[in-house]
Amino acid sequence: MTPASLPVDPFDLVIFGGTGDLAVRKLLPALFHRYVAGQIRPASRIIGVAREPLDDDGYRAMVRDALGKAATDLPQQCDDFLALIGYRPLDARKDEGWDGFAALVGERPDNIRVFYLSTSPELFVDICERLGKYGLNQGASRVVLEKPIGRDLASANKINDDVGRVFAESQTYRIDHYLGKETVQNLLALRFGNALFEPLWNASHIDHVQITVAETLGLGRRAGYYDRAGALRDMVQNHMLQLLCMVAMEPPASLSPDAVRDEKLKVLRALKPIDGDNAAQLTVRGQYRAGASEGQSVPGYLDELDGGKSSTETFVALKAEIGNWRWAGVPFYLRTGKRLPERVSEIVVAFKPVPHSIFEGSVGALAQNKLVLRLQPDEGVKLWLTIKDPGPGGLRLRHVPLDMSFAEAFGVQQPDAYERLILDVVRGNPTLFMRRDEVEAAWRWAGPILAAWAASNEPPRPYTAGSWGPSAAVALIERDGRTWHEDND
Ligand code: BG6
Repeated sequence: MTPASLPVDPFDLVIFGGTGDLAVRKLLPALFHRYVAGQIRPASRIIGVAREPLDDDGYRAMVRDALGKAATDLPQQCDDFLALIGYRPLDARKDEGWDGFAALVGERPDNIRVFYLSTSPELFVDICERLGKYGLNQGASRVVLEKPIGRDLASANKINDDVGRVFAESQTYRIDHYLGKETVQNLLALRFGNALFEPLWNASHIDHVQITVAETLGLGRRAGYYDRAGALRDMVQNHMLQLLCMVAMEPPASLSPDAVRDEKLKVLRALKPIDGDNAAQLTVRGQYRAGASEGQSVPGYLDELDGGKSSTETFVALKAEIGNWRWAGVPFYLRTGKRLPERVSEIVVAFKPVPHSIFEGSVGALAQNKLVLRLQPDEGVKLWLTIKDPGPGGLRLRHVPLDMSFAEAFGVQQPDAYERLILDVVRGNPTLFMRRDEVEAAWRWAGPILAAWAASNEPPRPYTAGSWGPSAAVALIERDGRTWHEDND
């Protein structure tokens, strides 16, 4: 069995956008956890880069704050970790300071180099050009691109072309952190490590699939980015399509990066188009109004934008179909939104009913078998089955889950997705990263939806913060005689 955590080779990880939200909230804590787990060797360095005029100590203080309780609980390890950290103020669009930065990186020529671009995509090209110009792409160098890669197919192609002038495709890691989530990888284990599911995994036995990624958070401090993006670009084009691919792909011949990515690509290319002809029937977009979230009153989206006008969607529900033999006629219902009643991400695979019921009268209705993969919170798997209600008396049927919570079953805290993915970059394993052609195929499908919405001139439908989105999202699935899954189904 592969050991849980082997140390990786020494690396220099440069985080562009090192003072930004993602770096502070996710990347640096993830690195600290891997450090505490013994996977990061002392010869490694983590260098934050941003425009703020900080020095190494100022940045270390910021990182210590970001680590919060983890730092106070493990003071010695925190000090040792901070000793690996440095900072360089740099402007991606100006040459000033880049010579010194190149000299700093050059001090450890044998370290693997990872340039993590945790910035707005508009800066990707400037950063990569300067990394090229200052000779930093040397030896084992890799570049990590955070999503979104562009805002449509043309801009994604431009970014990929420009980055590609400096870094080869094999050096380019397009991160989609949903692929690093434990349950997503468990989908591979469940589907391809068990003989049980695969024979049923097709249109003959599966009625439909639901993928929900619900958040309670609102816009927060991300107005600048989010209002230009919206839920389709922010969540559907990447995270949700990647989840759909993991459910729908054919068994790859192996777990080698290209074997997996080839199969995902085929799914993306087989998605049936949604465009001006059918977007009104197959999609619902919404925008939250004031309401309540987690017991507190919260403002509406437009209020958070300081009363600005916007037709950006904060909610999307849609019905996708994959035009191939395995999935013909099986709807994939996708739903995501901000300010929904709870934070929950799950994939529901609903099987067809039994062909004939031998049960009659008052024994209870037969419900569909469902396999529910919970990504967060409480990662786990539930298989909903029909059983006999225990006890004496007549035969009564009950629908209950075989319920495996990973935390309870294994007693371990699940690592954050970024912990796995950052170390995969260092190890040079791109299996869980998006290849260029996948990003393009995802935009080819998402672009016509955005175009149809723009052409319709219809504003997004309002929904109250703390509700499950506009009522049209319920109608979207109920029209087909189905309902969104609830955990007590
Ligand atoms: C990010 C989106 O990619 O994923 C955010 O830009 C979203 O809008 C986040 O909140 C959700 O990630 P997670 O891991 O918290 O579900």
